[in-house]
Amino acid sequence: MAQLIGGLATSHIPAIGNAIHKGLQNDPYWAPFFAGYPPVQQWLGAQKPDVVVMFYNDHGLNFFLDKMPTFAVGAAAQYNNADEGWGIPTLPPFKGEVDLSWQIINTLVGKDFDIVTCQDMLVDHACTLPLKLFWPEGEAPVTIVPVNINTVQFPLPSAKRVYALGKAVGEAIAAWDSSKKVVVCASGGLSHQLDGERAGFINKAFDLQFMDSLVSNPEWATQFSTLDLVEKTGTQGVELLMWLAMRAALTAAGPSVKEVHRNYHIPISNTATGLMAFEVA
Ligand code: DHB
Ligand code: FE
Repeated sequence: MAQLIGGLATSHIPAIGNAIHKGLQNDPYWAPFFAGYPPVQQWLGAQKPDVVVMFYNDHGLNFFLDKMPTFAVGAAAQYNNADEGWGIPTLPPFKGEVDLSWQIINTLVGKDFDIVTCQDMLVDHACTLPLKLFWPEGEAPVTIVPVNINTVQFPLPSAKRVYALGKAVGEAIAAWDSSKKVVVCASGGLSHQLDGERAGFINKAFDLQFMDSLVSNPEWATQFSTLDLVEKTGTQGVELLMWLAMRAALTAAGPSVKEVHRNYHIPISNTATGLMAFEVA
């Protein structure tokens, strides 16, 4: 059976792609953000996963507001990045892990999740930037399965439902007939609001409590409705639902996890940035 070895979570912001492109990693503005990543890069270098299952939210590149699935799973042999209008350079295509895609899709449908399956799927900064941050040199040495969760257009799935989805994805990975090593990854959050009266809103106290909860009480955030989460974390902060899915997936590998690393830095652009890495204990 496949080995689910751990989980990663990171914020995504288009400006990160620009900073990488311009080599600004040591610039005083960017250094506290990029300094978080080497311990995770080293952990990945030692663990050598084969596959990344990426929980992320598309921002209008593959799904626009006219057709918005609540949950969508990629089942493509290749995922192309494309221009989102932010002016950041596109990254080369990523290879899909098609067999695991169908294992996840079959498991989810078998457990009554009504998902959309995508055999053709563009991936935006939310899927590509974490891979670039984790493997900054050249192309990431992994195949991927993108799992898209709508946090863009209401109604959004509840934290409770996202947790259940993540758990089912973890069970699908653990039951996959393969000798490959898999990590689950969350892309998004932490607190931020890009527009409206509360533009620039950040809630450090909530972010830190949420990060702590993921270590030993992973269901803690499922007590909140999506509107509670918007109130506490901002309209885009609700992307932290990805972190919940990732952590729920890890419950399929064992009752507890070891925190390998974390970083938290305010702000990058409008966002409170977070990074966490977990190993299955
Ligand atoms: C920003 C944050 C996001 O999550 C995003 O998708 C786009 C922009 C920002 O803070 O600039
Ligand atoms: Fe985003």
